[in-house]
Amino acid sequence: TERTLVLIKPDGVKRNLSGAILARVEAKGYTLAELKKVDATREVLEEHYAEHEGKPFYEPLVEFMLSGPIVAAIFEGERVIEGFRSLAGTTDPTTAAPGTIRGDFGRDWGTAVQQNLVHGSDSPESAEREIGIWFGK
Ligand code: GTP
Ligand code: MG
Repeated sequence: TERTLVLIKPDGVKRNLSGAILARVEAKGYTLAELKKVDATREVLEEHYAEHEGKPFYEPLVEFMLSGPIVAAIFEGERVIEGFRSLAGTTDPTTAAPGTIRGDFGRDWGTAVQQNLVHGSDSPESAEREIGIWFGK
């Protein structure tokens, strides 16, 4: 069965939305396999976001992800990677569809990076890579 890495970013944790977000993923039918709250290190974030190095939002993104604790989870289920990304909504929370996590809980706060509450792996390869980074397996 497929696995994905879900992160609740510092904005979601600070706003006390972790439970509400996890509840939506569980209610969809996916199984929570691992869960922890972590203060990410710069090293972990640079590995996680390696594909974005050099982009204008890269440094603000890393700083934002260092700004508070993160909730990291592994969810399992058939097609969970695309299922979670559908639940999360598109990257920009201002225009993410209502009914999605980003669409219902997110907005533009005028910061250099989009604070969009969650991360979900985008392919089986990135899921296994990211699970290794955050959970070491
Ligand atoms: P993740 O699930 O977090 O990976 O989001 P995503 O796959 O929808 O976006 P992507 O991997 O392309 O970018 C990673 C993160 O960088 C996003 O979630 C945003 O927080 C931020 N980001 C991406 N594109 C932009 C952009 O064009 N401008 C700004 N300000 N931030 C961006
Ligand atoms: Mg991404």
